[in-house]
Amino acid sequence: MHVMNDGLNIQIGYSREDWERHYDEKDLRWDLDEVAPPFVHLWEKRDIPPCRAIIPGCGAGHEVMFLAEKGFEVTAVDYSHGAVRLLERTYEKNSFLGKVLHQDFFTLGSKYDETFELMLEHTFFCAISPDMRQDYVETANRILKPGGSLIGLFYETNESGGPPFNTRREDITELFSGSFLIESLSKTPHSVEQRRGKEWLAIFKKK
Ligand SMILES: C[S@@+](CC[C@H](N)C(=O)[O-])C[C@H]1O[C@@H](n2cnc3c(N)ncnc32)[C@H](O)[C@@H]1O
Repeated sequence: MHVMNDGLNIQIGYSREDWERHYDEKDLRWDLDEVAPPFVHLWEKRDIPPCRAIIPGCGAGHEVMFLAEKGFEVTAVDYSHGAVRLLERTYEKNSFLGKVLHQDFFTLGSKYDETFELMLEHTFFCAISPDMRQDYVETANRILKPGGSLIGLFYETNESGGPPFNTRREDITELFSGSFLIESLSKTPHSVEQRRGKEWLAIFKKK
């Protein structure tokens, strides 16, 4: 746990080293070992055509492979070596060559501005310190094309502290409604057992 308080800028949450340690110690307690079921149901229900997509904080990459297998051109981003290694191994196993950026999502260069038609969110938003949430919205807004979509699961843990940091409906609407049209935002009935009733399935369109 990294707590920094210099009197001006307070950051509470995990540092890069903390995440790295999880991979080194093979403690991926957040990992579902499969793509999150609400995404499977959503794709069954809706026709979401393949496009250029980005997945920030991709971890082991279950969502990355899910989209890749559907023909999406996926850019996966994670700043932990361990995550990048896991995803590269998965790519190898599946004889798939995909783009993995070993990078801090918030420092994606301007060459990625208005590049993606879709950003898929899964337990990255709740992993970052709440004081980074505005940066999350700004980065998503910057890298998505106009009219691009942000589809995500937002985790209402109802607990203090984190990660995962609690995300309430009003946090989501307050943050995103300035630059995104909220197409739908509802609790999904398809979450895995341990997250049942706690996940907001969101579909936003960049204004
Ligand atoms: C809780 S895990 C979620 C992984 C994956 N999305 C999943 O649902 O299984 C959060 C991931 O975000 C990564 N991460 C945290 N902050 C990051 C940042 N600023 N830039 C890129 N990756 C980050 C961590 O290394 C970790 O792999």
